[in-house]
Amino acid sequence: MFPCDFAWGAGTAAYQIEGGWQADGKGPSIWDTFCHEKGRVFGEQNGDVACNSYELWEKDLKCILQLGLTHYRLSLSWARLLPDGTTRHVNHKGVDYYNKVIDDLLACNVTPMVTIYHFDLPQALQDQGGWKSQSIATLFDSYAQFCFQTFGDRVKLWITINEPYVCAKLGHEDGIHAPGLKEPGITAYLVGHNMLRAHAMAWHSYDSSYRAKQKGLVSLAINSDWLEPLQPDCTDDIVATERDFAFTLGWFAWPVFLTGDYPEIMRSAIDANSRRVGYTGASRLPSFSKDEPVILGTADFFALNYYTSRKVKAGAGFGQTLCMKSDRDIEEVLDPSWPICGVPWLAVVPHGLRRLLKYIKDTFNNPVVYITENGFSQVGPLQMEDVQRFEFYKDTIMEVGKAIEEDGVNIRGYFAWSLMDNFEWPDGFSARFGLFHVDFSDEKLSRTMYHSGREYAKMIMKYKSEPK
Ligand code: GAL
Repeated sequence: MFPCDFAWGAGTAAYQIEGGWQADGKGPSIWDTFCHEKGRVFGEQNGDVACNSYELWEKDLKCILQLGLTHYRLSLSWARLLPDGTTRHVNHKGVDYYNKVIDDLLACNVTPMVTIYHFDLPQALQDQGGWKSQSIATLFDSYAQFCFQTFGDRVKLWITINEPYVCAKLGHEDGIHAPGLKEPGITAYLVGHNMLRAHAMAWHSYDSSYRAKQKGLVSLAINSDWLEPLQPDCTDDIVATERDFAFTLGWFAWPVFLTGDYPEIMRSAIDANSRRVGYTGASRLPSFSKDEPVILGTADFFALNYYTSRKVKAGAGFGQTLCMKSDRDIEEVLDPSWPICGVPWLAVVPHGLRRLLKYIKDTFNNPVVYITENGFSQVGPLQMEDVQRFEFYKDTIMEVGKAIEEDGVNIRGYFAWSLMDNFEWPDGFSARFGLFHVDFSDEKLSRTMYHSGREYAKMIMKYKSEPK
């Protein structure tokens, strides 16, 4: 069912696991600042120590080997490498750390997939406007080129930016992720735009200066739920679903994979809403400049983060305020038959992933796909024998198999989220996504495999050795 060179992975992100927030010359990031403000994170927790992977990397490596992963997805902390965000000052201790991680992985036959940016902007760049500022794209490009130069002889799978949707909306519209801005209706679109510009610049730099020698692949990780109309025959619900897709997956996938521009229905919904309230400024959705590197075609594969599904119906009408919610004008509902796994937003819908994969194949011209995140959380009392969670993994991986075999989707890998329990953003340590449990109450931060980890390892072993 799975090709023999299929990537079986698990993922983590720097801020969620590393700790060492001030170690060896690392600069602060927006997540350091955000978590140190009162009332931002569950229980006033933070990633100051987290899994302390900065000091305990060898323990992580043991977990990776116990699982038998072929691939490991990690992210680089921008502020650990470049404390003020610019290449004027390189923190060599940070470079040493990631060199060791990458070298150890390769020595153990594990292929690294490296995310250049996973939510943790250097605070120094936030102080200059962060992702709102036009110049962030060039700064990101320099940082990405620094990464290609420093690690690209060994890293062949790159993700520039993880989940621009989450950074833009949760960080700048809802204010529940760092940098905690609540500037509805304008800033998220600007941030998303600058993230696309930054991504495209980095991809072009790789393409023109590194690809020939390094022979790697570069993409950006796009998160999307599977969406379907609440009433399959209701035109309003069908249109609402298209609009919802346009504001989530389409926001980033259309420019990169399809047209070089935002989905038309996204722009027309935003502009119509502006007119309705008498907003007379330029379109709140920025336009791509012809003088800048083109966006279309700047991904060598489709990197998909999938967690859950939603049924969609038309919104209850426009509110008075200009915001993404009123622009989008939809309502998402959960099907009561879908089990909830841990955090309340995570309804388990394995078949949703298969449908989404088919949708991506049909909409974006059959790209090569890596599922760069998928997983299930635990909240409340600890359950080491997380049988139900593994059932979800098994069902989901079966659906991935069907997408390959029956739908002909060109899927090259699956990365479970996450290797181990870690700092789950505003939920702190209350939501546990790991294949390994981490005991945060014990100084040693010992890692212990969950039942789901053992079963995932068996599954990897089985598929790796199965004759095709
Ligand atoms: C994603 C994010 C990960 C992880 C996961 C589970 O949005 O990229 O860092 O936290 O969600 O919520």
